[in-house]
Amino acid sequence: MLFTKIIFVLSVVFSYTKSNSLEFLELRNTDPSIIEDATLDTFTLIKKYGYPCEIHRVYTEDKYVLEMHRIPYGKENSIKGTRPVVFLQHGLLSSSAEFVLMRPDKGLAYVGNIRSPIIRAVAPFTNSLEKILKLIGANEILPNGNLNKLAGEKLCIEEAITQSLCTNLLFLFCGFDVEQLNKTMLPVVMGHTPAGASTRQFIHFGQLYKSGKFAYFDHGWWTNRRTYGSFRPPAYNISTIKVPIFLHYADNDWLSTPKDVDKLFKELKSVVGKYRVPLDNFNHLDFVFANDAKKLIYDRIIRIMAQF
Ligand SMILES: *[C@@H]1O[C@H](CO)[C@@H](O)[C@H](O)[C@H]1NC(C)=O
Ligand SMILES: *[C@@H]1O[C@H](CO)[C@@H](O)[C@H](O)[C@H]1NC(C)=O
Repeated sequence: MLFTKIIFVLSVVFSYTKSNSLEFLELRNTDPSIIEDATLDTFTLIKKYGYPCEIHRVYTEDKYVLEMHRIPYGKENSIKGTRPVVFLQHGLLSSSAEFVLMRPDKGLAYVGNIRSPIIRAVAPFTNSLEKILKLIGANEILPNGNLNKLAGEKLCIEEAITQSLCTNLLFLFCGFDVEQLNKTMLPVVMGHTPAGASTRQFIHFGQLYKSGKFAYFDHGWWTNRRTYGSFRPPAYNISTIKVPIFLHYADNDWLSTPKDVDKLFKELKSVVGKYRVPLDNFNHLDFVFANDAKKLIYDRIIRIMAQF
């Protein structure tokens, strides 16, 4: 429901802006570099700020192509040799850009970079066709495109009367937190979010939400039977996970709620720690975009990782 409404709002905004001249927006005071960052891809963004970057492609058994971006070493530190790997995985409808778009002093991918190479994955973009997807007629949902470009270059900049629309759209998805959102950076955030996701991934997400079970993709009775040997999709057994896990969560996170985090905490058998961000309004996106994310989260994470 919520998504349908938001998609509707997006399309209304899009058709409105398409049919109207945007000349009334004053672009003079916005730093051109910010507008540029709104449209650059992850690789080019990383290069722009002087860091090395590699692109790796992973071809999965179920025919997805995953693009991964790696920062092999820091800016001033080109000493070669083996280093520990840090893998950053973004969430649904997001992309690798989220870890670098707040620039080197704020982005998680850059923090602690001197010691650690960073690898991260981007949204899958190919998928095997299937009946329901054919019905919808699309394999990708909320793809990053013209609307993001428009948001990054015009709608979300400081002088735009439409900026509050951008803010509210983000807050609507993720919880309200005015204090931690740097509005100057909004064009860059909206230029990259949403980044698209495969339709099937989205449907899977909906299935999990509806059933309240963390299980494999539900193809329907007969295909399930053929694929899994059972009519219902089997559940993932997360109690078999052995790696040490540290959970970080926030009270105002509407997508990963404290209740769900608690459920996860009880089912996982290898949790070393659970940490609530000590800010009542901290939301879902604040983990990557908050003004104080480094102080509140990243410095902690780096300290924890150093112990393993
Ligand atoms: C999940 O894995 C654990 C540990 O291997 C096992 O004891 C348990 O029976 C499994 N649960 C299910 C539902 O398969
Ligand atoms: C917001 O972003 C701008 C542009 O990157 C930066 O100059 C400013 O310091 C940021 N403000 C805060 C409160 O972090």
